[in-house]
Amino acid sequence: MATGAIPMWMPEKVLHEGAEATVTSGSWLGKPAVLKMRRPRGYRHPDLDRSLTRQRLSVEARVLGRLQTREFPSPAVYDLDIEEGWMLLSRIDGRPLYDALKDDSADAASTTPVGALIRNLHEAGISHGDMTTHNILVDTAGALYLIDFGLARISPELEHLGIDLQVLNECLTASHSEHEGAVQSMVDGYLAADAGGAVASAEEVVARFNAIRGRVRYHG
Ligand SMILES: Nc1ncnc2c1ncn2[C@@H]1O[C@H](COP(=O)(O)OP(=O)(O)OP(=O)(O)O)[C@@H](O)[C@H]1O
Ligand SMILES: [Mg+2]
Repeated sequence: MATGAIPMWMPEKVLHEGAEATVTSGSWLGKPAVLKMRRPRGYRHPDLDRSLTRQRLSVEARVLGRLQTREFPSPAVYDLDIEEGWMLLSRIDGRPLYDALKDDSADAASTTPVGALIRNLHEAGISHGDMTTHNILVDTAGALYLIDFGLARISPELEHLGIDLQVLNECLTASHSEHEGAVQSMVDGYLAADAGGAVASAEEVVARFNAIRGRVRYHG
């Protein structure tokens, strides 16, 4: 559909053209916003594609709504159309952690708050499902935000929480191996942020993460 048909939306430029979604920056009612539009995937049957698109969008919107009430650092949902496959979000003025870690100024200690951020998400009863260094944004003051909740779960199992740590571990070791100790800093931050409110304690999640890590090593 033409993005011109979205009420109050003024597009500026395409930020990201990914496999699943196109993200455009612009403004909505004068506020900095992004439009995340799911694109059809040619190789999938159109019916399956539509239902997956709807499912991911509605999960993402529900999770973002829940996080907003907890003042968790993630985008607000301004508007959405599940049938048309788009969502308007508040724009976060930051760059991906991926880029920040590539900077010489960044050091391994910068992953301690990342661990705390993930623990806070888990304390809210949510797993992310795609915890890569591209889905964590850092602003100029160093504050962290999480985005991209299409694979998130409300009321996750222990395994899903462990997988969040494992996915980030894989990113940190594969793409940011120059940051020695980054994984340990992340785990330390995760453990220190335990507030006792989640489905599983931070120690239980780290134990599961270590088990998953061992499984991957053994079979990989
Ligand atoms: N609210 C936002 N504020 C600022 N930038 C954003 C926002 N949402 C997304 N972006 C930018 O767009 C990129 C892609 O967004 P997102 O991660 O939500 O989509 P995606 O599902 O990963 O897309 P794909 O998997 O198809 O590549 C992000 O990495 C980020 O750079
Ligand atoms: Mg993403």
